[in-house]
Amino acid sequence: MAEQLNVVKGDKIEQYENILPQIRGLLEGEPDLVANLANVAAALKSQFDWLWVGFYLIKSEELVLGPFQGPIACTRIAYGRGVCGTAWKKQEVLLVDDVEQFAGHIACSSEARSEIVLPIFSGQTCIGVLDIDSAHLATFDAVDEKYLREVVDLIAQI
Ligand code: SME
Repeated sequence: MAEQLNVVKGDKIEQYENILPQIRGLLEGEPDLVANLANVAAALKSQFDWLWVGFYLIKSEELVLGPFQGPIACTRIAYGRGVCGTAWKKQEVLLVDDVEQFAGHIACSSEARSEIVLPIFSGQTCIGVLDIDSAHLATFDAVDEKYLREVVDLIAQI
């Protein structure tokens, strides 16, 4: 694996095109899920400098905080609760332009304004979610969804 991450400026497509191959490289040959999630969170945070990037993993029927970068966060989220628990329940990607408009949003940080959550599947089974918070409104769109789907697909292959 590379010793140093190469971070670029540019539009979000350029940033994703830069970081995705490096994430692929980071995961190559490493079978440990937690180690890989930690490096993915660090790589995404370094490239995009979002407020919070991290993972919640399903354990005993709830989401439990996994590797992340950013402010401290709530440790457990119930099925169907918050944006994360709803993405898990609906088994779909959720884009939230304004977290204050999402009924039941769990505010781990008062700075969070918008959010994207992607379920992670291993085969047909949801094993957790990738959760990203931005300090700005409407940060995430179809471009983020497309590339972050590739990231969670890579994780699913671990
Ligand atoms: N906002 C999330 C909770 C997790 S923190 O953002 C890190 C939610 O509503 O599920």
